[in-house]
Amino acid sequence: MLWLCWIVFLVGVHISSTSQCGKLSTLASFEDHKTIVETSLNLLAGSWISEGCEIRPGPEYILRSYTFDDTGKFQLIQHHYWDDSCTSPQLSVIAHGRIQLRDSLVQPGAANAVLRVGNVTVVPQDDSAAKELDRVVAMECPGRYWKPWRRYEEHTIYDSRYDEKRRFTNLWASSYDQINQHPGNPKLDNPYFSDITCLGSLKWAFNELKLLKIQLRPILDDLKRKPMPMKMELLLGDIHSNFKLREYYNPTSFQVPLIKRVKDDVVFINRHSFRIKNPNTIPASIFTTGRAPPHLIEKPHLPPYVWGEWTSTRCEVRPMGLYLTRRFSFFSEDSTWIGDHKFYSDPFCKIPKFIVTAAGHFALVGPNKEMKGTTDIDFHIERASLTVLDQRMIHDMRLQGLCGLDQWKVNVPKELSSTNGCAPLGISLPSVLKDVVKLEMDYRGSCMLFLGQVDTDGLPSASNERPSAFQLPLVRCGDVATYSQSLRDILNKDIYHNGVAKSMFSLCSIILLMTLSFFR
Ligand SMILES: *[C@@H]1O[C@H](CO)[C@@H](O)[C@H](O)[C@H]1NC(C)=O
Repeated sequence: MLWLCWIVFLVGVHISSTSQCGKLSTLASFEDHKTIVETSLNLLAGSWISEGCEIRPGPEYILRSYTFDDTGKFQLIQHHYWDDSCTSPQLSVIAHGRIQLRDSLVQPGAANAVLRVGNVTVVPQDDSAAKELDRVVAMECPGRYWKPWRRYEEHTIYDSRYDEKRRFTNLWASSYDQINQHPGNPKLDNPYFSDITCLGSLKWAFNELKLLKIQLRPILDDLKRKPMPMKMELLLGDIHSNFKLREYYNPTSFQVPLIKRVKDDVVFINRHSFRIKNPNTIPASIFTTGRAPPHLIEKPHLPPYVWGEWTSTRCEVRPMGLYLTRRFSFFSEDSTWIGDHKFYSDPFCKIPKFIVTAAGHFALVGPNKEMKGTTDIDFHIERASLTVLDQRMIHDMRLQGLCGLDQWKVNVPKELSSTNGCAPLGISLPSVLKDVVKLEMDYRGSCMLFLGQVDTDGLPSASNERPSAFQLPLVRCGDVATYSQSLRDILNKDIYHNGVAKSMFSLCSIILLMTLSFFR
């Protein structure tokens, strides 16, 4: 697998073709445009599983297996792992309950769910996890009797039958002290019952269920076959990057999708029939008994060969109704990069709004301390331009005068360096983005590039902390050019004093702030 990546890399040096990038983004937008959204209990019924080992901010490594029936009853299983390949299980969290769907106001075609959790149980999957749970509980609730945690043994940490207040919406809200004041509380008398509030920061919130969307997305491997096979995806709400805020967070965007576990199936939506197929990512059969965590195979950790061209594989969604596609080029000889972020006003990336292009030098700093196979990268953002595709934006965001020189026109890129950025949009130039990068192969053997996921709040962090989770991957689509003369020319024009970065600012935050002010 590793070698394949190398071959692609080396061949790329000789064959100059950027048309592959165009082809791949055309395919991606074809898939986006043919995607059908239908969020209903009827389609929700069934089993949904992760496409691969998922990384959440923290980092946390998980596999999800969620099952619903057509009345909205659910069993949610989250297997947590010690490693980023999901080879060694840490613990499993299992929740039972019921959901009801309401139309979402924040995401078109999605639903807000009203959640009623019946019970939550936790199973440590090895001795270290059991020991760690013992430690946390002893620290959070000193003196309380707890059944000691044991490997493979299920602990009930929440049961609505013993919860007089029925805190369905926020299980974590009560404090240990309140419970302690009522000695007759069945929780305290029941030696098999543990208290959810004693888990400290280990709070496995199920807030992701508050926002959900079901969609059918074409599988392009089988383009010629009619009817076109689709995979069924369940998109659940995003997880807040700050674990302290997770329990109260109301998601506005989505995580990576879960895939419906089906034998070839046909569904009818608005009297059209669609053939549903399982894409061959991880085999559904490894989720055997449901409760036993699957062991995935260790992923090869590829070196950070970022050079070349990369493009989005689908329309990406970010918090606060932000939709975009990305395209990056990295040049090896002078360590320069250029990246396009193209923004749209709809979740299928049909209606373009504006494009931000940024460029500069980059430095691969070294291995990331938290995440194996991940490299720290510093993006020096030296130049940026903004292309407005929607006339309204020029006036609404008061670009004139503050962002670049001269008149603003639709469809004409405007250099922002001459005004050291664009204050109304929060763009400051030059600046440095402290990021992380990781390369992986997907199941087809394509090279995928992962860049860090910005904080949910989108605020530039005061500390030098780097992201602990990733955005959706970009796929390699172009050869490795050693340098680009035009980019060199642009970067070499001396506009700044020494080109030294003055401020810390993240490119992603810039864009987020821009849109925040734009859409409010
Ligand atoms: C949790 O609730 C489900 C569904 O009501 C039930 O089948 C299961 O036995 C409960 N688990 C525990 C440990 O109480």
